[in-house]
Amino acid sequence: THPLRLGIAGLGTVGLGVVRIVQKHADLLQARSGRAITISAVSARSRDKDRGVDLSGYAWEDDPVALARRDDVDLFIEVMGGHDGPAKDATEAAIAAGKDVVSANKALLAVHGQALAETAEAADRVIRFEAAVAGGIPVVKALTEGLAANEITRIMGVMNGSCNYILTRMESAGLTYQEVFDEANALGYLEADPELDVGGIDAGHKLALLSAIAFGTQVDFDAVQLEGIGAVSIEDIRQAADMGFKIKLLGVAQMTGRGLEQRMSPCLVPDTSPLGQLQGGTNMVVLEGDSVGQIVLRGPGAGEGPTASAVMGDVMDIARGLRISTFGQPATSLRRARPARAAVP
Ligand code: NDP
Ligand code: HSE
Repeated sequence: THPLRLGIAGLGTVGLGVVRIVQKHADLLQARSGRAITISAVSARSRDKDRGVDLSGYAWEDDPVALARRDDVDLFIEVMGGHDGPAKDATEAAIAAGKDVVSANKALLAVHGQALAETAEAADRVIRFEAAVAGGIPVVKALTEGLAANEITRIMGVMNGSCNYILTRMESAGLTYQEVFDEANALGYLEADPELDVGGIDAGHKLALLSAIAFGTQVDFDAVQLEGIGAVSIEDIRQAADMGFKIKLLGVAQMTGRGLEQRMSPCLVPDTSPLGQLQGGTNMVVLEGDSVGQIVLRGPGAGEGPTASAVMGDVMDIARGLRISTFGQPATSLRRARPARAAVP
């Protein structure tokens, strides 16, 4: 069997994590997928940066689109970020050139996922995105594989580690929102545009992607009712604690008789519940299915190792010949959901 040859666009936190796993676990990857997994070429903005990883064996491309089109690349990994520009151009170029794609980019998929999935399927290619939702937690695989025979009745969860860090730190240290925001920003915990985190947008992208899989509907990020954590005060947190509750940026999606409700907003949860106990940057996703009942998945929602772990899980599925549709069923079979406003919890 020929090796599966990767092209990696983006050598930041996630991209370097992927390189490290391929270098460290070559034997394990081959033994489990039945095929050697190698890196042919990489791309990033700055060629001269010392990234602390030996990249000398890989070809370099300044342009991710050129990387996506290389003859020695079978699978294109997009870990640059951004919902337009190079990430979108290179993903489209990869599909057009007959490559499969693995992405960690929730913004790209939440905005263009339907069109990209349709294009990929028309070309008999796959796009997979486990790393885009809740980092290291295999929640996409849970929905598309293990729970595939269930009618999903509800998805709920904390899907942005930065917001959970801010809220739990306000509570434990008695600091204001602004003080903890500044601290988290200085520590590099927030996205380059922090509004993506604190405005609930990043978590909204993730909820919209899970909804599409769970309810067989076209991803509809614009229909997510979004409210960030910027208005949560220390007094709100204290009052909630007095009543036995915690405040969490909670996503809830469910199909109702009126249509699809998708809401991401600060909510009260009982402080003794698993969601209430969630500390720091950890994520938790609760899935409810008609046959299985309730499943609770908890783990690291970000960071080099966890996110690269999820990227490589998708790469290994493709190496094994597993060709699961982007949203768990053919993109052309996804219905357009009627958006319904969720009642304020
Ligand atoms: P980083 O900012 O650490 O890295 C981005 C990389 O992309 C850098 O190497 C950068 O190059 C490269 N890049 C950016 N623009 C271009 C371009 N135009 N051409 C070529 N290369 C480019 O991002 P992360 O690794 O943190 O995130 C990558 C993706 O993964 C994003 O979509 C993010 O949302 C997603 N993700 C990240 C998680 C995390 O924990 N970090 C968790 C889950 C998903 P250079 O280094 O030269 O600047
Ligand atoms: N900013 C995101 C978070 C990164 O805090 O969860 C992982 O998607």
